[in-house]
Amino acid sequence: MNEYEIKKEICDIGKRIYNKGMVAANDGNISVKLNDHEFLCTPTGVSKGFMTPEYICKVDENGKVLQANGSFRPSSEIKMHMRVYRERPDVNAVVHAHPMYATSFAIAGIPLTQPIMPEAVIALGCVPIAEYGTPSTEEIPDAVSKYVQHFDSVLLANHGALTFSDSLLNAYFKMESTEFYAQLLYQAKLLGGPKELSEEQVQRLYEIRRQFGLKGKHPADLCPNTKAGKPSCHNCGGNCSHAGASENADLVASITKKVMEQLGL
Ligand code: 13P
Repeated sequence: MNEYEIKKEICDIGKRIYNKGMVAANDGNISVKLNDHEFLCTPTGVSKGFMTPEYICKVDENGKVLQANGSFRPSSEIKMHMRVYRERPDVNAVVHAHPMYATSFAIAGIPLTQPIMPEAVIALGCVPIAEYGTPSTEEIPDAVSKYVQHFDSVLLANHGALTFSDSLLNAYFKMESTEFYAQLLYQAKLLGGPKELSEEQVQRLYEIRRQFGLKGKHPADLCPNTKAGKPSCHNCGGNCSHAGASENADLVASITKKVMEQLGL
């Protein structure tokens, strides 16, 4: 894809997140990595549902403007995007939105950790909540940084959701999956509470994920319990550290434990 086509794709995804009600008014932002020193991003303060390729700005790895038409300036959240690219070299696109259900969970302080449907378990695993930060400051990048190595989807406390992946379409799909998972969980709670998948069912789904060789980070890939054939992530209750056999597994276990603690598990 050439640069113009990528700009058109950003506009396309902008329309989708706007038309699906994942953002209101001028909310949300999208970026795509062209190479280590050039990134395309949506401009600040415009509706992402009405953009044309001329709106899209180009920045360097520090978020400094390389190219912007007229009065367009890069998203006020560009630091958050750049932090993800810096810390996750496998990521080529980042999407930030405020979808109704996912953001409601982020406001209520409830991470998405219940294994309730196969697709969410396979695609996302758990979705943690990064601590609240003031938009446009380093507070949000700092908060997100704690989770970025272990997850591809993170809720932002009292704010919204952030997803990232190897392509813009996949980053967008992760946003869709996050919102769908949150919506199902919300509705199931209204119906008396979800019946969670069993440990064994979750393990079988993790195995499918491994067999498919799906890209990105996933809590199931981290847990040394998984490698030892024991329950992981959704079901281990934060006891991953008991299974560490090697030095590496111990390190992974301590990281997992910290993440689990932050998730309140
Ligand atoms: P920008 O228009 O500056 O990208 O900001 C929108 C937003 O949602 C901030 O969180």
